[in-house]
Amino acid sequence: MQKVKEGEAAITVRNGVFFNPQMGKLRDISVSFLKAAGSGGSLLDCTAATGIRAIRYALEAGYKDVTILDMNRQAYANAKENAKRNRIRAEVLNTSLQEFANTTGGRFDVIDLDPFGSPAPEVYDMMKVLKDNALLMVTATDTAVLCGAHSAACVKTYNAKPLHGELCHETGMRILIGFILKNAMQFNYGIEPLVSIADMHYMRAFIRVKHGAEEAARAAEELGFGAFCTRCKNFVLAKGIAPALGGVCGNCGSRMELFGPLWLGRLNNKKVLSEMLGDAQSTDARQLIKALRWELDTPLFYSVPKITKSLGIGSVSPALVIERLEAEGFAASYTHFGRDGIKTDATLKDVIRAVRGPRKKGAI
Ligand SMILES: C[S@@+](CC[C@H](N)C(=O)[O-])C[C@H]1O[C@@H](n2cnc3c(N)ncnc32)[C@H](O)[C@@H]1O
Ligand SMILES: [Zn+2]
Repeated sequence: MQKVKEGEAAITVRNGVFFNPQMGKLRDISVSFLKAAGSGGSLLDCTAATGIRAIRYALEAGYKDVTILDMNRQAYANAKENAKRNRIRAEVLNTSLQEFANTTGGRFDVIDLDPFGSPAPEVYDMMKVLKDNALLMVTATDTAVLCGAHSAACVKTYNAKPLHGELCHETGMRILIGFILKNAMQFNYGIEPLVSIADMHYMRAFIRVKHGAEEAARAAEELGFGAFCTRCKNFVLAKGIAPALGGVCGNCGSRMELFGPLWLGRLNNKKVLSEMLGDAQSTDARQLIKALRWELDTPLFYSVPKITKSLGIGSVSPALVIERLEAEGFAASYTHFGRDGIKTDATLKDVIRAVRGPRKKGAI
């Protein structure tokens, strides 16, 4: 047994119950998210372990109507004693989300889903206990699957073809969001991603759902496919469920790798991120929120080291490439999805020109 203080919560962690102190940063971010985007109401922590999340949301974001689930007997007992210790009035149940969703009459304004590995087996049932405008916070730690280390595993789990390589964290995040949307649509919900994070060993999607056939149809328009050229780093994206995506690179003529379906809409809401930044206390959380706030909304990015390598030239600082693109009137930013990656509204040809820099006098 171990005692832990985190945020305003003081908990004990029983032997055999999951607790990862490194995820404190993400829990800080989740508290700030609820303070920025939530408006109170009922909250469900489906995968509680020690109960730390639900307890922090109650103490720090003011949630008073709290339900806590864990299908593991020891975790359930641990969450129950921690709720009591922190004077949280909560219903704590020893059940699975699947069983709960099929028997409860309750519906929730906020749902936190943080299972081991993939959240895919839980996402469908989660949709049964939503209210309109609910906030979902979904963690995936099966990043190897979403990042395409084993393509067949991603096809099986998320019904999507992943993309391995430098874009894998962003494409994985978008595959996860696309998968959540496909489940939401079956219950007549559309989605709006508000914050999307790929960090350390996890991905976490913060999403608002919106009820109605029109909302679902509008969100569905943001699903699409992509093609990537591993040779010259060109990519093409196309929205729609059966888009005409050629398999040949328009830049170098190589065969491109196809991936998707995935979410091609916005990943972040800058207003929510600004409010979160105003609230977040820890340096780590603030750093990540700031990085997200600076990122352009354009899907995918160019890795400067991969481009210099494919051109066979020496390394160039990404800051310099951003400066040159901006001087030409393009928008450009770093991205938390990839070190030395640049998001921009410029084409690959423009980026290559910016990477090469101004021609030297006398050169042809
Ligand atoms: C990764 S831990 C949760 C960690 C916790 N959210 C935290 O921040 O410390 C996953 C927990 O969810 C429980 N769990 C996994 N799948 C579940 C399901 N379908 N329904 C209910 N509990 C589940 C496991 O027993 C485990 O205790
Ligand atoms: Zn190419």
